[in-house]
Amino acid sequence: MKPATIAFVLLFSLLAVSSSTAEKFDFFYLVQQWPGSFCDTRQGCCFPDTGKPAADFGIHGMWPNYANCRRGVHHQQEDLAGTMLGDDVAAVFSAAGAVGRRGKCWPEYCDDGNALTPWAIRDLVKSLDQSWPTLSCKGGGRSFEFWSYEWKKHGTCSNLEQHDYFARALALKAAHNLTAILAGAGIVPSDTETYSLSSVSDAIAQATGHTANLECNRDGNGEAQLFQVYQCVDKEGKQLIDCPLSMPTKCGGDSIKLPVF
Ligand SMILES: *[C@@H]1O[C@H](CO)[C@@H](O)[C@H](O)[C@H]1NC(C)=O
Repeated sequence: MKPATIAFVLLFSLLAVSSSTAEKFDFFYLVQQWPGSFCDTRQGCCFPDTGKPAADFGIHGMWPNYANCRRGVHHQQEDLAGTMLGDDVAAVFSAAGAVGRRGKCWPEYCDDGNALTPWAIRDLVKSLDQSWPTLSCKGGGRSFEFWSYEWKKHGTCSNLEQHDYFARALALKAAHNLTAILAGAGIVPSDTETYSLSSVSDAIAQATGHTANLECNRDGNGEAQLFQVYQCVDKEGKQLIDCPLSMPTKCGGDSIKLPVF
């Protein structure tokens, strides 16, 4: 590197250290999954040690996200470094993680030293077991491992304390019961019925006042089914907002199932 470049690198490193540690992001995705669709794939699922969860949407996570994917750089240095130094040098500042061809679309693993402690969420465990159960076959059915992973990967970028992060996700889920919202629109779990994707998104938009993104997966026969609902939430993790981004639904058409769990 040329001396001038080294000087810039040092300068920006100093700026990075002295500026606030607040993570910059634009909104959260509150992601909920339908357990029937998690479990009836070829891979299958495992129930948590607390038993079979209710036939209700469960939280997958609450994920900080950027409204625009960022090329190269992290944080405030982005604009300056990108225009002044060019992308190759800007890449010096790039944080590890969610960097793909479209750039970095969300922050992740923001503080590996900040592990989730059972003590911090002790008063929430009962609600978490109900609303945020693991269905993974890794981790021996311990939902705490799922919560710890979500905290480490996404929660540490949320600018929230451990307790608030989980409490806010739970409050949002409770305020907008997706299972009840869909049932109210006649969309009930069934192994034979199919529903239109637009009827699902319309029902959610009408009941919550805000659009959400939907994602399908495939059952054991390769049929598309509603898997996850991505609701968008303000940076405090308190209010729903319209989703600033759309995403591919992976549904492959307008006709989807909602399998019995
Ligand atoms: C959500 O609504 C469904 C269907 O009405 C109900 O069975 C379920 O208990 C509700 N979930 C919560 C957490 O209240």
